[in-house]
Amino acid sequence: MKILVTGGLGYIGSHVVVELLNENFEVVILDNLSNSSENVLDGITAITHKKPEFIKLDLREKSAVQDFFKKYSDVSGVIHFAASKAVGESVELPLLYYENNLNTLIYLLSQLKDKNNAQFIFSSSCTVYGQADELPITESAPTKPAESPYGNTKQIGEEIIKDICKVTPNLNAIALRYFNPIGAHESAEIGELPLGVPQNLVPYITQTAIGMREELSVFGDDYPTEDGTCIRDYIHVVDLAKAHVAALKRLVNAKNKDNFEVFNIGTGKGSSVLEVITAFEKVSNTKLNYKIVDRREGDITAAYADTHKANTELGWKSIYSLEKALLSSWKWEQKIRS
Ligand code: UD1
Repeated sequence: MKILVTGGLGYIGSHVVVELLNENFEVVILDNLSNSSENVLDGITAITHKKPEFIKLDLREKSAVQDFFKKYSDVSGVIHFAASKAVGESVELPLLYYENNLNTLIYLLSQLKDKNNAQFIFSSSCTVYGQADELPITESAPTKPAESPYGNTKQIGEEIIKDICKVTPNLNAIALRYFNPIGAHESAEIGELPLGVPQNLVPYITQTAIGMREELSVFGDDYPTEDGTCIRDYIHVVDLAKAHVAALKRLVNAKNKDNFEVFNIGTGKGSSVLEVITAFEKVSNTKLNYKIVDRREGDITAAYADTHKANTELGWKSIYSLEKALLSSWKWEQKIRS
């Protein structure tokens, strides 16, 4: 079966392509290379000994999307990653985010809605919950007003899919709400390649440890948590990638209970920033230079997933520990800087 992976050369997309090829799906990648590189294909091939088809295409070009589906009429399954994801940038450039994350979604769904049978997996985020009133967070927790245009595109994206699914029984979709993806493939052939100064915790840690950054700023130690730092659910990107394959198979095998479903994808375990630092120091055998600074605007105190629905319905469960994930990030950082 041929699956289209948009943004398939990006961080999460590339790991999903590997898992799809391992499961003998045929893969076509569309990517505009805005935050990725064609070299990622070599990493995918080194791991899987297969070379997926790659087409450089910008999904904001509606006619290019139409032409693609005309030519690849046998594609009915789409896993959609292509999107912008920097929260701060989205505040500065809201229209870019709405165009990039929503127009592209609409163009893809416009093509899929007329097929006899189509499957669509959407990259959503736990950001839709904001600071949830109860932890762990279940899928039925209410969504909170988005803190940024980026967060808003995830909420609106889910709404768009829900609305089109309501009137399109042949379209089956799943939104996966990721918690905090970290780590890299254990081969260190693919991993995260942040553009410029990393905004996320783990790439900042590994770049500090390798000497690219002087010190890590820990954003606040006065949160109402045990050690005062924020708590997140850090999930290994390979575990996350496998959740996509499980979701796709659920749709392909018509095991879904509704034609639009939502799943949390996390480990179910929360870790504080200081716990992540300690775990990193242990697995890397380094001492990390860090200091406590003021809180970062928009950060929530704590978020971790209730994974019951994903475990039982998708038959998927994360297997990697925080330590293992951090070690894979560290190996990857060492490899790309060597
Ligand atoms: C961030 C985004 C979120 C997005 C997610 C994608 C914000 C406010 N939120 O989530 O919308 O879906 O990335 O991965 O940007 N930290 C530090 N020092 C740093 C970097 C981070 O102390 O240099 C702390 C943060 O305060 C937070 C934790 O580390 O407590 C994780 O931060 P991060 O990796 O940026 O993820 P989120 O904030 O959870």
